[in-house]
Amino acid sequence: DSPFLVLGIESSCDDTAVAVLEEPRRIRASLVMSQVEDHAPHGGVVPELASRRHQEAIMGLVRRCLWQAGVSNPMRQLSLIAVTAGPGLMGSLLVGVMAAKGLSQGWEVPIMGVNHMEGHLFANVLAHPDLKPPFLCLIVSGGHTEVHLVRSFGDYRLLGATRDDAVGEAYDKVAKMLGLGYPGGPVIDRLAREGDPDRYQLPVPFKGSSQVEFSFSGLKTAVLWLVRREGEALSVPDLCASFQRAAVESLVSKVKLAMNQTGVRTVAVSGGVAANRELRRRLEDLAGSSGGRVRVYLPPLELCTDNAAMVAAAGLWAYRRGVRDDLSFRADPSWEL
Ligand code: KG4
Ligand code: ZN
Repeated sequence: DSPFLVLGIESSCDDTAVAVLEEPRRIRASLVMSQVEDHAPHGGVVPELASRRHQEAIMGLVRRCLWQAGVSNPMRQLSLIAVTAGPGLMGSLLVGVMAAKGLSQGWEVPIMGVNHMEGHLFANVLAHPDLKPPFLCLIVSGGHTEVHLVRSFGDYRLLGATRDDAVGEAYDKVAKMLGLGYPGGPVIDRLAREGDPDRYQLPVPFKGSSQVEFSFSGLKTAVLWLVRREGEALSVPDLCASFQRAAVESLVSKVKLAMNQTGVRTVAVSGGVAANRELRRRLEDLAGSSGGRVRVYLPPLELCTDNAAMVAAAGLWAYRRGVRDDLSFRADPSWEL
């Protein structure tokens, strides 16, 4: 009896990723080619450049990944190809989708278009076999800040999202203002540890509102004014600490609100910002002080950031609950989960 192997392909933003997943949770190989260095001089992702890099990288990555996973005869060994079809940058998505369609047709292997956000959610499913719906999923990355209620796999309700910038984007923009380079999240996170979060007063977005909603552009602007006002006197570590506290406070308070509104007290976190020390600490404290009522799931970092194992997992679970796709699906930059 040969194992059910899924080839996952991800190219929605600035990472080209390919993985082979063996049902249910064994990652045979997972490769990510980051474009960070290509985009760093521009202080953010340049869409046209991203598509070009995906195009250069993708087939070589597929070949290497299959080799690493011990798949010498993809036509016979693969059971499914799962590819991110949205949301994301159109030019980037198209590269992965067209590659996957070509391989699917050539190898006569079924294909499935996967929602990138469902992929992030499945990073937790891969990492935590005991995680069962219903649970809340907080997805925080450079492109997204969303809370979903997972009623069952395949049945999701968006409880709230950002009205403007994503939280990771705010980190990146603040870092850019301070000349700290790109991506900004890890640098700010590190500097914040040496700073005093009480030094500067910054607004916590939507603090008093009774809706699950986020906004980070006002916070970013407040930082900009502060940088101008303080001039030479500015303490960068203190600013990082103050900014981080406001950003994380907004995330944590809305997770609590979502728990109260739904009665669901299990939360899984995903996306690049899940690497944030302060966010992890605050959520772990929340769980620790709840007397076992609140449960927090955090996947390992390599599954939090964009990767293709999570896409393969989302495709696999969909396939197993009877979802079928054919070559007619399209890349959709604004596909909502
Ligand atoms: O999920 P991801 O790798 O890519 C997408 O955006 O899809 O997330 C990247 C984002 C960047 O904005 C980066 O600054 C942020 O995650 N990030 C962090 C940390 N590490 C990465 N933000 C805050 N603290 C961190 N430690
Ligand atoms: Zn992502």
